[in-house]
Order: sequence, then structure tokens, then C-alpha cells
Amino acid sequence: PPPPPPPPPPPPFFFHADHGIRDAQESRGLGDVYKRQEQNILATSDSPLTVQNPKDGYSEQNPEEWINATLECLESLKIKKPKEFTETISIGISGHMHGATLIDKSGDVIRPCILWNDTRSHKECEEFENQSIDVRSISGNITMPGFTAPKINWLKNNEIESFKKINKVLLPKDYLRFYLTGEYYSEMSDASGTLWLDIKERKWSEKLLSCSDLDIKHMPSLVEGNQETGILKNSIKDKFSFKNNVIVVGGAGDNAAAAAGMGIINQKQSFISLGTSGVFFTPTQNFLSNTGDAVHSFCHCLPNKWHLMSVMLSASNCMDWICSITNTSISDILKNLENYFNDPSLVSNSSFFLPYLSGERTPHNDPHIRGSFHAMKTTTDATNMQYAVIEGVSFGILDGVNSILKVNDNFDKVFMVGGGSRSSFWIELIASLLERNLSVCDQSEYGAALGVARLAMHVDKNIKDQNNIIKEIKISKEYKPQFDSIDLLRKRYKIWKDLYSSNKKIAPTLLA
Ligand code: XUL
Repeated sequence: PPPPPPPPPPPPFFFHADHGIRDAQESRGLGDVYKRQEQNILATSDSPLTVQNPKDGYSEQNPEEWINATLECLESLKIKKPKEFTETISIGISGHMHGATLIDKSGDVIRPCILWNDTRSHKECEEFENQSIDVRSISGNITMPGFTAPKINWLKNNEIESFKKINKVLLPKDYLRFYLTGEYYSEMSDASGTLWLDIKERKWSEKLLSCSDLDIKHMPSLVEGNQETGILKNSIKDKFSFKNNVIVVGGAGDNAAAAAGMGIINQKQSFISLGTSGVFFTPTQNFLSNTGDAVHSFCHCLPNKWHLMSVMLSASNCMDWICSITNTSISDILKNLENYFNDPSLVSNSSFFLPYLSGERTPHNDPHIRGSFHAMKTTTDATNMQYAVIEGVSFGILDGVNSILKVNDNFDKVFMVGGGSRSSFWIELIASLLERNLSVCDQSEYGAALGVARLAMHVDKNIKDQNNIIKEIKISKEYKPQFDSIDLLRKRYKIWKDLYSSNKKIAPTLLA
């Protein structure tokens, strides 16, 4: 098969182990305690990471890069706010989910981490589900190559030496925690993405672990996202001159953390994230699931809360890709398209794009499908194609929302976050497709880091009103559906769905 296009460099946000350093002013009476409650962001810092794709469908990262990036960010935060930094009380950690970080008996990393968007383990997904254990009802999820468990089964079949050395399997942010504290812990939201968690009971499942030939001793201990998991090691405390024994809390997987950052913890709320992956996320009061449509059913990062999530693997990835193919910047594409959407003749003449550059999770669970353009004409130009890409990603988001609506229609408020939420045109298109108002807020770009900083505030004894820490972020603008466009978009969505059905059949042949 022709080699796939090289994936664009990841946007820093999603490939960071995000660190939330919260406002840590020492309590000097009520005034300061109130100040803490304002949750002012004192400083932020980021550091880029690289991803390796040794083959089509492979996606790996070297855990040492997370550590170096973290140390760099801590150094830079210390320079920006030296006094507040050294008075830090607690830290929350987040990171991309599902990655298999394998640790041997001496605490060393065995091989590069196999990431959330790696699809090499599609055969092992069948193996994992074919073991007379009802994987779907215990884990709440269908087995997809992105999840951690089939990656371990792949190692068993392909890298037995690495498999034999496993002492612990850690998720990316939990490896960072191990580096910072020396402790092996995970928390419910991220652990949900392994397929070894009993989602309803919020504990590791011996039965599910046995499907990967692992048991509880290979797993870190579990806490909720707002509970303590240890304190910074002396070497790190001294290196950065922290004054306190800084507590590290459970934290959360990136999506649950972003939800906490926006205050999305109740069932009436939801968000769409247009990041590297495209996500629709809504909290639930109880455990619910829809494995038929590959909906993710996970624990939220606070006790007794769960959430449903649709994940499309390539959202802003598709944008980066079309930018490089057409040699245009994202901002130019979005500017060019501003008036496009208001002209039905342009929209009806556009080609169609299936946004499956590296396979798809919700609703198809299809590791074989790849991206494609359809209905290319002699009149098709770069702008038509750029529109088709944005529309195709938006249709993918609608697919996700529809899959969740089948089991839960409780949400009425939808926030937009991620790179795409900076484009009015794109938000209006999605609002029209969903026929719902969409809210945008100024602070959403701090997402996951702010969310886990808020979780870290829960261990501060000076904060009396713990229930008020995770509050909803202020809406800065609301977008409404453009009713004139709805019929045309719906018609195109129907055709787009048929295109997937026809392409699905030949997709494995094209890859072979
Ligand atoms: C969620 C998922 C992605 C990653 C990367 O299931 O795979 O959202 O967490 O951000």
C-alpha cells in the first residue's frame, strides 16, 4: 500500500502530560483563603514532544521526553512566579489516555510507550474478547486497539521478551507520577481506558486482567482524581526549592481533566473538543454504556460520577494534514471559508471527505478504514477540498453525539473547546448540524491543566467549601444554529454516511 502521509507534529496540549500548579499562597487569614478560591491562573508553561510512527498504524513516544518536558515546565514556572511556585501545596497531573508504559522490576521503562492512537493491535482485540469472559459488560466498553489491554496482548504475541519483563503497566501520567513521587498509583478516569477496570464498581477486575495474562500485582493502586497519592520525592522537592511536602493527587485522563477544568461534572452539561482527536463528552450520574456504537463509558474523576464519550481519532489532525497538502495555514483556511458556508451553491458542489486518516473509534470501531475524498470534479479546487475536510470532521462529531443520544439525552448545555473552537465558522457549522446552541469560554485552553489543578485543591485543608471548587467556567460567546443551512447539511450528512458504508467493505483490502 502507498505509505500514509506523515502525521503532523502534535499540538502541544494533547501530547503533554499537563501539570497544574495551583495558586498556592500560604494562608494568612481569611483574605488569602478567599484569594485561593478565585482560582486565578498565575502562570502557564508548555514544552513540545515528539511522536514516532515506525509503521502505518504505529504511534509511540519515549517516556523520558515527558520527564524532560515536565522538568522544563517546572523550571519555567519557577522563573515566572518564584515566590508562589515555591509555596505550592499540591499538584495534579493529566495526560493522554490509554498509553501502555511498561515498567520492569527496577522501575525502568522497558520499551517506548504505545500510544492511544496506535492501531496495530486490531487482531488482539478479538483475542481479548474471545475468552469466555463478558468483557463488554464488566468494562462497559468494546475492545478497541486504542485501549491499553490489546496493546499488551500484542506484545505477548510479538515482543514476548518485553512482555515477560513487565512488573507494572502504567498510563502516561501515572509514569510521571512515579517519577515525581516514587509511588505506583492511578485513578478511575484514566484507568477506565485500560479495559481492565470494572467501571461500575470502580476497581481492577481480576477477570479482565486475566484476558491479558496479567493480575492485580501488575497494576498501580487506585484512588479518585481528587485524592492524595503521595508527596514529591526529596530530590525533586530540593531541586525546585519547594517549601512544603507537595502533595500529588490522582489527577485525571485528559478528557475528564478538561471537563473538570470547565466545571463539567453534572449530567446536564457536555463538551465537544476539536483537538488532535475529536471528542464529545457528557457526565452521567450512573454507569451507562453503548458498546454497539463504540461509545466510551468511563468513570469521571470525582467519586460516584461517570461519563460517556465519543472519540474520533483524527479531528484537527485532518486540518493539519490538508494544510500541509494545500500549503495553507489553518488561519487562512478558516478565513477563506468564512463566507463559504453562507453560499448553498458552493456547499452543494463541494466534494466529501471521510476523516479517517488513522482508522476510527466511535461509532465504527474500524482500524482499517482510511481517509478519502469523494465526488471530485473538474471544478473542485483547494477551497472546496478544505471545506470538505472541515465538514467531514464535523459529520464525525455528529456521529459521536448521535451514538451517545441513543443511551443518554440528558445534556442541554454544550461547550466547545480545542483548536477548532477558535473559528466562528466551524462552530456555526457544528451548531447547525447538531441543531443546538454551542458555548465558548475564554479560559478553555487551559483545559486539562486547570482541571487537575482544581482536583489538587481538594487536599488543601484550608478550603472549607470543597463542593464549590469545580465550578462552571464563564461563557464568553454563544453560537446558534443557522436554520437556513440545516436541510442541506443533513442531506450531505446522509450521503457521507453512505460513503462510509460502501468504503468499509474494501478498506482492509486497500491496506493489505
Ligand atoms: C480518549 C483518547 C484521546 C486521548 C488523547 O479515549 O484516546 O482523547 O486521550 O488525547
